[in-house]
Amino acid sequence: MEPWPAGPPMEPGSSCPAAAPVERQFRILVGVTGSVAALKLPLLVSKLLDIPGLLSRDDTRLWAVLGQRVEVAVVSTERAKHFYSSQDIPVTLYSDADEWEMWKRRSDPVLHIELRRWADLMLVAPLDANTLGKVASGICDNLLTCVLRAWDRSKPLLFCLAMNTAMWEHPLTAQQRDQLRVFGYTEIPHGGHGRGGHHCGQSQRSHVTAPRLPEELSPSRVWCL
Ligand SMILES: Cc1cc2nc3c(=O)[nH]c(=O)nc-3n(C[C@H](O)[C@H](O)[C@H](O)COP(=O)(O)O)c2cc1C
Repeated sequence: MEPWPAGPPMEPGSSCPAAAPVERQFRILVGVTGSVAALKLPLLVSKLLDIPGLLSRDDTRLWAVLGQRVEVAVVSTERAKHFYSSQDIPVTLYSDADEWEMWKRRSDPVLHIELRRWADLMLVAPLDANTLGKVASGICDNLLTCVLRAWDRSKPLLFCLAMNTAMWEHPLTAQQRDQLRVFGYTEIPHGGHGRGGHHCGQSQRSHVTAPRLPEELSPSRVWCL
């Protein structure tokens, strides 16, 4: 894990902050949960890093400034780790152990608070049924759900659900999606239901496309397995 938080840029051999202003990157925090769609985390991260200047507006908020470079960090649940190799993630990856290793005494930073400060935008993709339920009801029992519970709701939070049809059709799913919308979070709209073959032989609905995001991030390319 890299030191946190990243300090100011330094001139080589100098102990003083560099005089020249350094371009501020737009910071995207990706949350990943234990859906089979987390297999695509490496691809998602690389596509986000490819975006030269992420630009997306809703009616009220500027989400990113065109031309800004994008910086990405990932917060993973323990279950999500089952689906990807950390070696395939070219950005800082945080999980529960980091939260507790970082805090030893009162002067130490609390990682979930530092991350909610650091991020300009959070994208939870895939958001599985378990963490959806936790977020909707306020449970915060791991690093990701603590970031989400402490989220600064003046900043955009996007979520992309992924679960099989049986879970999707349970009435709790609609209730909990609505609750997240009440919190002000944005479900990335889908261009029709993204149905693909699911790992357990059933279809999977992955509601994970955004019209303004690049084509490469559409569910057919990234999420439907
Ligand atoms: C192979 C496999 C695939 C899974 N895929 C999904 C999925 O797509 N969506 C989902 O909601 N849960 C899925 N689950 C169940 C979650 O992994 C489980 O609910 C887990 O507790 C989620 O933990 P987390 O929310 O802390 O990541 C899957 C489980 C397994 C074993």
